[in-house]
Amino acid sequence: MKKALITGITGQDGAYLAEFLLGKRYEVHGIKRRSSSLNTGRVDHLYQDPHEENVRFFMHYGDLTDATNLIRIVQEVQPDEMYNLAAQSHVMVSFETAEYTANADALGTLRLLEAIRILGMTDSVRFYQASTSELFGKVQSVPQNEKTPFYPRSPYGVAKLYAYWICVNYREAYSMFACNGILFNHESPIRGETFVSRKITRAVARMKLGLQKKFYLGNLDAKRDWGHAKDFVKAMWLMLQQKKPDDFVIATGESHSVREFVELAFREIGAEIQWKGKGAKEVGIISKISGQRSAVSGQEMKKAIRGAAKPRRLKSDEFASDFSERALRAGDVVVEIDPRYFRPTEVDELLGDASKARKALGWEPRISFEEMISSMVKADLEEASRDQLCKDSGYRVLNYSNE
Ligand code: NAP
Ligand code: GDD
Repeated sequence: MKKALITGITGQDGAYLAEFLLGKRYEVHGIKRRSSSLNTGRVDHLYQDPHEENVRFFMHYGDLTDATNLIRIVQEVQPDEMYNLAAQSHVMVSFETAEYTANADALGTLRLLEAIRILGMTDSVRFYQASTSELFGKVQSVPQNEKTPFYPRSPYGVAKLYAYWICVNYREAYSMFACNGILFNHESPIRGETFVSRKITRAVARMKLGLQKKFYLGNLDAKRDWGHAKDFVKAMWLMLQQKKPDDFVIATGESHSVREFVELAFREIGAEIQWKGKGAKEVGIISKISGQRSAVSGQEMKKAIRGAAKPRRLKSDEFASDFSERALRAGDVVVEIDPRYFRPTEVDELLGDASKARKALGWEPRISFEEMISSMVKADLEEASRDQLCKDSGYRVLNYSNE
């Protein structure tokens, strides 16, 4: 049985990759950080009681800033494949925590490669590095492929540039099987809540249920090549199954603006958005709402909450056409600009060319931009409905509009 060690297993990609590798009959080991509150929500469904037989999922405490701990874990696990997904992965946060970001994202990668070397495992381990389209930053050509020069635009991008090159260097210097996956943005219902995609789908879902009135964004015109994380983790694995180590761009080949993302997310709940004003004064207003009501109206929901009717679990597609009376109306201002979300240096537009991966790995994205947004809104509607039930039953529910 093959053994994989995943750093960042508690993150979006770590969770999907762990699930994927368990499906391929791997023994999966993950490194999680100690935190004061639980941080394993994304992989709890994979947890196996260590007292049971045939356990194939294990977690180890560790941190990319702690070299001796990494050496010990690699020695204990003796993995065939290592996936380095751990990182301070938020671009905006990296401007505020530049040194920490460099320590975890740049030096963390070096520490893992050194652990492999110190333990004499250079011939037996295959190493995947989570590189990023942020390396292209201020893009030097469109679309971006493996030959496009890098021009990072944030402490995060610069840290990842070091990680990219140290991975290439160890491949060339020590003949290690080390690959860079240069992945463009990828999202999912388990995306971190402060990345723009999830921030939008969560806010839209909460507004639909009347839990929130509006939300604030930064640059609406930034464009990204957005794919689905489920498709992208498969590409990571494929890279490590090749005869020779190499670097690959993984992208959908479609670019969309934040503005379009907002419009599609609202469309998913039956609302149209119209934009008015310019720059920091621009607002998004509901111009039209489908009048359709679903089998579960706001009234029915209220009755169920009061106990007058037997509550039943709502299916996510029922939410999509149900506007309870406390929710949105045409004319409501639902999006405003808050300049604090503008970045000191921005990456204006990313568009990837994944033809090398298509040819060499046989990789293709399967989930479309529209399908991805739809699945995210639906999942967030389910989450918001739980909050709504709590609120209607008199419990305190937090307002997330200022994230
Ligand atoms: P994510 O959801 O933010 O997950 C990051 C993971 O790294 C989490 O498990 C986090 O632990 C862990 N981590 C952070 N600092 C650590 C440290 N010092 N030591 C050990 N673990 C640490 O990110 P993601 O979206 O899954 O992305 C995975 C990787 O791909 C990252 O390296 C990211 O930079 C890169 N990437 C992402 C994208 C994208 O669009 N998603 C695109 C290109 C590249 P906690 O759960 O405890 O915070
Ligand atoms: N986060 C956030 N919040 N971004 C906003 C907002 C907001 O309120 N308003 C506009 N944006 C714009 C950002 O300025 C950026 O241009 C774009 O939305 C996407 O921002 P994020 O979702 O934070 O992602 P990112 O592109 O900066 O970084 C993600 O993708 C990279 C790959 O290109 C992260 O996952 C990185 O880890 C990853 O490497």
